[in-house]
Amino acid sequence: MRTYSSNAQLQSALHGFRQIGQSIAFVPTMGNLHEGHLDLVRKAKSLCDVVVVSIFVNPLQFGPNEDLGAYPRTLAVDKEKLFSEGVQVLYAPGVEEIYPEGMDAQSQVQVPNLGDTLCGSSRPGHFDGVTTVVNKLFNIVQPDVALFGEKDFQQLSIVRKMTLDLCMPIEIVGVRTARDEDGLAKSSRNGYLSLEQRRIAPVLHQTLNSCREAIACGFDNFLQLESHARMKLLQVGFKPDYFAIRDARTLRTVTEDTEEIAILVAATLGSTRLIDNVRLALNPVSDWGMLAGGH
Ligand code: PAF
Repeated sequence: MRTYSSNAQLQSALHGFRQIGQSIAFVPTMGNLHEGHLDLVRKAKSLCDVVVVSIFVNPLQFGPNEDLGAYPRTLAVDKEKLFSEGVQVLYAPGVEEIYPEGMDAQSQVQVPNLGDTLCGSSRPGHFDGVTTVVNKLFNIVQPDVALFGEKDFQQLSIVRKMTLDLCMPIEIVGVRTARDEDGLAKSSRNGYLSLEQRRIAPVLHQTLNSCREAIACGFDNFLQLESHARMKLLQVGFKPDYFAIRDARTLRTVTEDTEEIAILVAATLGSTRLIDNVRLALNPVSDWGMLAGGH
């Protein structure tokens, strides 16, 4: 595995692969790699000849009171994991390589509508930071395919929209959320949880599943379901940020045109903010008949 920290060197290496007709899959990460990231890498390997992984803790997507300083940086261990998975190229630039003139001087990419709701409301500027860095990384790596986890469902939707809107010739592939045995979605932030918090944390996924089951059984009072879920989370010690039943495509309220529902949650346990989601495909004829009151 080759590791590069300079754009120029990375680009010249990737040029070599492209010249001999090899396709490139890209997995952007912020490091502290867990099984969820490795699932992305495995999927990437199945799709293309060369897998490029980036590790860059992007300061532009952290708010002033967020965990940028404390964000786990584990480059040596991460490298071993990527090497064991057969990754050919690791790109691990410093902040000066990505933002040579500083972050304030950086042109930004903004995806309207999808980015101003859910996590976008509670983390202003977060998704502009994500789309800006992903855009830069895409331009540097120029992959054929890029892979993102479905755990960050809003991020995945926003990156998909950016890629379409800006006519980027890159296929965006979403990969299923990796979970611990008790259902907790794998996340670098799980490492912040105390033993007691770790015991409580799976309630997040349980609450999402209960809500999905209720909808699948025809319960259509979404406001009641959302408020019931928030109460449940509060009871066990979470501070819910949002629990929302949305159209999976628009991330707005469910309408008669909705083909798939996304149930999304963000909640803080102690000082750790966790997110998760589940989805439910609707059969347009029978499900909407049921949700429209026929149950
Ligand atoms: O999901 C992440 O780890 C980050 O938001 C990403 C996509 C690597 C951009 O910094």
